[in-house]
Amino acid sequence: MPASARPRRFGPVLVADLALPPKAAAEPAARAWLGAELGVDPAALAIGRGPHGRPALQLGDWDCNWSHSGDRLAIALGEGVRVGIDIERPRARPRVLELADRYFAPGETAGLAALPEDRRADAFLRLWCAKESVLKAHGRGLAFGLHRLCFDGFEDPAAAPRLVAMDAALGAPGDWTLRRLPLDGFVGMLAWHPAGPRFSD
Ligand SMILES: CC(C)(COP(=O)(O)OP(=O)(O)OC[C@H]1O[C@@H](n2cnc3c(N)ncnc32)[C@H](O)[C@@H]1OP(=O)(O)O)[C@@H](O)C(=O)NCCC(=O)NCCS
Repeated sequence: MPASARPRRFGPVLVADLALPPKAAAEPAARAWLGAELGVDPAALAIGRGPHGRPALQLGDWDCNWSHSGDRLAIALGEGVRVGIDIERPRARPRVLELADRYFAPGETAGLAALPEDRRADAFLRLWCAKESVLKAHGRGLAFGLHRLCFDGFEDPAAAPRLVAMDAALGAPGDWTLRRLPLDGFVGMLAWHPAGPRFSD
C-alpha cells in the first residue's frame, strides 16, 4: 500500500503507513496519528515505556507499536490485543546464511539454504520481520532471542510465515496471528495476540 494516513484494517488491528522525513523522530509522528485516530489530543496521549523500551499506550484496552525504516513509519493500533509490527527496506544481503546461522533456529537456516540463492535474501527478511513483530508485541525485543521462535512458510512472498514453535514465555503458536503487510518497497509483518494473561519475560 502507498504511504498514507488512511489506515488499513487487519482483523482487530489498524495499520497506518506514513512518510517520515529523514532523521525525524518517530514518536511525535506516531503520537499525532494515534491521537487523531483515538480522538484524543496528541499532546495529552499518555504513552509510557515498558522495561525494555516498548511503547505502552495508557488508554483503556488499547495497544500500539510502531516501526520505522528509511523514510517510512508503520503504526499498529488495536483494542483488546497486544500488537507488534516490523518493517524493513530490502537491500543486498550477501551473507544471509551466516546471519541465519547465528540468529535463527537450525531448521530455518536449513530451509533458507535449500532455497535458490536468488530467493534467499527476501525469505530471510520475511522471517526476520515475522520474528521481530512477535518479539515486539511480547516486549523484550530482539534480546529475547530470534532462535526462540520458529517459522515455516517463509519462502512464500505472498503470505506471512507460519509460527510452528516457540518458547513458552511467548505463549503458544495458536495464540498468535501474523499478517504480511502489503507495503510498496518494504517488507512488513504484523503480529498480535488477544490481550489477557501477559506472557512472561
Ligand atoms: C527495539 C527494537 C525492537 C527496534 O528494532 P528496529 O528494527 O531497529 O526498529 P523498529 O523501527 O522496528 O522499531 C523501533 C520502535 O520499536 C519500539 N520499541 C522499542 N523497544 C521495544 C521493545 N522492547 N518492544 C517492542 N517495541 C519496542 C519503539 O517505539 C521504537 O521506536 P522509537 O525508538 O522511535 O520510539 C530492537 O532494537 C530491540 O529489540 N532492541 C532491544 C535491545 C536488544 O535486543 N539489543 C540487541 C540487538 S541484537
